[in-house]
Amino acid sequence: MADTLTPVLTDDWDAEQSWKLATYESRGGYQALTKALGMAQDDIITAVKDSGLRGRGGAGFPTGMKWSFIPQDNPKPKYLVVNADESEPGTCKDIPLMMASPHTLVEGVIISSYAIRANHAFIYIRGEVAHVIRRVQAAVAEAYAAGHLGKDIHGSGYDLDVVVHAGAGAYICGEETALLEGLEGRRGQPRLRPPFPAVAGLYASPTVINNVESIASVPSIVKNGAAWFAGMGTEKSKGFGIFSLSGHVTRPGQYEAPLGITLRELIELAGGIREGHSLKFWTPGGSSTPLLTDAHLDEPLDFEGMAGVGTMLGTRAIQLFDETTCVVRAVLRWTEFYKHESCGKCTPCREGTWWLVQTLAALEKGQGSESDLDLLLDQCDNILGRSFCALGDGATSPITSSIKFFRDEYLAHLTHGGCPFDPAASTLFPSLSSTAVGAQA
Ligand SMILES: Cc1cc2nc3c(=O)[nH]c(=O)nc-3n(C[C@H](O)[C@H](O)[C@H](O)COP(=O)(O)O)c2cc1C
Ligand code: SF4
Repeated sequence: MADTLTPVLTDDWDAEQSWKLATYESRGGYQALTKALGMAQDDIITAVKDSGLRGRGGAGFPTGMKWSFIPQDNPKPKYLVVNADESEPGTCKDIPLMMASPHTLVEGVIISSYAIRANHAFIYIRGEVAHVIRRVQAAVAEAYAAGHLGKDIHGSGYDLDVVVHAGAGAYICGEETALLEGLEGRRGQPRLRPPFPAVAGLYASPTVINNVESIASVPSIVKNGAAWFAGMGTEKSKGFGIFSLSGHVTRPGQYEAPLGITLRELIELAGGIREGHSLKFWTPGGSSTPLLTDAHLDEPLDFEGMAGVGTMLGTRAIQLFDETTCVVRAVLRWTEFYKHESCGKCTPCREGTWWLVQTLAALEKGQGSESDLDLLLDQCDNILGRSFCALGDGATSPITSSIKFFRDEYLAHLTHGGCPFDPAASTLFPSLSSTAVGAQA
């Protein structure tokens, strides 16, 4: 079995009452804060830069560099906003982190806010997860009571207030500028950039927006040093990350490992694909990252490795599908999600995602002709790169990548007059590989 796990963020998760302040402190929690408050703010930013930490929310932008964009000569207040909206299909790492170890996030928030000279921080959590909101609120209250938050933290003269904000439940509110709109009390729709949030973000003030996992990684970097973090991972994708394995795998769950680990190693750690079945397709980082197949088991799961095979590392939300899954049906479900979540601000996405569902739904029922596949690709072409934000682009990824790898299966729906997977079989679908589907057709 591969032995490549690097539990840092997940290290406390199996401790008794891991979410409590006493547990966190008994395991070294808040020592990084003490160290950070004794450092110059710019030295913390330099340490995060030197560590090579890249945003864990999907795009992989260097975190230290983002912090250094905050104009310190701007007299307005500075803000830190934690993006805890986590709504991408398949993405499920921030919620377990906040449930199991909320103080890792809270400590990260305090250190990060201190580094960028913010006296107010916001944790924006998706509204549907009331239990997570309660848990983070309780951790923030514990941190206030212990003097880790509030006025004159640890006698340093530094003040910080943290607000835990419940979102109203929309995938688009994870897009950072739509999130800011929501936080300001308006309808969550993306803003035109520039100005970028670092210059004019929340309340038109300099704002850093980071993912939960990015911020939660900061205490370990401060405590152990930039070189320690940079010693893990690959040349341009440093450190560790939480890989969330879901779907047709024996032991689904969170696997914290250095960036650059392969899917083959992760599946081995997770006990293999469920017994008697084989991998058909998978997403590396949620449904908006182009899907891959069993031909990509040995590609390094880092930003460069995934770009090299035409996809993205995204949020490391690895959804695994075996040969019993109809790829057309799976893609239709994702596309329905994007159509539902389109905020309606721009035409290519608002109208385009509606058309994608119409065309795909017909194909899934076996209606239409082969030329409808070209129509579908043309519709994608009219959305990709023409939408106001990345939601529209992401909606096209499952479609274009599935047609690239499983064109035969789409065609099989047409020749079969519907889904070639037999729902009347004893299991939901009989075992048909994509080749078998093509052959059957
Ligand atoms: C439609 C959409 C949804 C997003 N949802 C999230 C989310 O739930 N959490 C998140 O951290 N980033 C999300 N992002 C990315 C954010 O816009 C932003 O890049 C990220 O919060 C930056 O943090 P990082 O640099 O730490 O990764 C989303 C982007 C888009 C376009
Ligand atoms: S791409 Fe979609 S979600 Fe983004 S602004 Fe346009 S309509 Fe809204």
